Amino acid sequence: MIRIQVPATSANLGSGFDSLGIALNLYNQIWMEESDSVDISSRDDVVIPTDESNLIFWAAKQVYEKCGRKLPGLKIIQLNNIPMARGLGSSSACIVSGILGANRLLGSPLAQKDLIDLAAQIEGHPDNTTPAIVGGLAASAIEAGRVYTVSVPVSDKIRFALFIPPFELKTEKARSVLPEQYSRSDAVYNLSRSALMAASLFSGKLENLRVAVQDKIHQPYRSSLIDDLDSVFRLSYELGSLGTYVSGAGPTIISMIDADDTDNFAKYAGNHLEEKGIEGWQIKVLNADSQGAQISIE
Ligand code: HSE
Repeated sequence: MIRIQVPATSANLGSGFDSLGIALNLYNQIWMEESDSVDISSRDDVVIPTDESNLIFWAAKQVYEKCGRKLPGLKIIQLNNIPMARGLGSSSACIVSGILGANRLLGSPLAQKDLIDLAAQIEGHPDNTTPAIVGGLAASAIEAGRVYTVSVPVSDKIRFALFIPPFELKTEKARSVLPEQYSRSDAVYNLSRSALMAASLFSGKLENLRVAVQDKIHQPYRSSLIDDLDSVFRLSYELGSLGTYVSGAGPTIISMIDADDTDNFAKYAGNHLEEKGIEGWQIKVLNADSQGAQISIE
């Protein structure tokens, strides 16, 4: 079988709506081989679709069709470490594993840039799928169906503290509350900050992050969908967050923290949430992943 390892991703980074994303060192593992039937199972207790509606299978089928090949069936085994519907790129991880796995099974007819394009077309935006494939901090734009992207490493001065709530938020719902139009001042506000975010994460200019993370495109409209958001933001800054934002469409909230401060932040964050009666949230401190998806033969 082939094994595909795909990282979790955090999109938007506050100001870079639908364009910036980072890969994180938390991974789903997927084993895959051609088969006469559809045989899908999970190595953990996460409930997944086991028929053709399974997103990994469905994405793999797109590659077979694009290459003019019929997909008889697939044996897929999933190990799902990325929490679902939490704004950490779990659906992108499925899409990416499906298309990368299928491409490998077919003898790699598609180049990486084709895979990046196809993943973004399936997902609808490139800010999770691209870093899941290439790793690092990816800035992406779509023009005429093609993704124009560059990935750079994230400074090793920065870690990412995840506040993962006990509830889900579907991207569809989180997108449905956004306005159709924005003022020029709001557009300029985000453009300037997302450019600052990309340059600051790359260079490790920590003092810029608190400004770079601010946004007027999506977070103000989504905040009411995330219980305890204000308390978690406030707490994170009291504990020394360099910049706190809603990861992707939410509901996970991420604080960028100084790498030298990691242990204290995680310990105190957990204690303080309990003291405030905010229950069921998980705190995880992660690094940026620089490699992206990896395929091996087992
Ligand atoms: N950029 C997307 C959004 C990420 O914020 O809706 C979620 O997939």
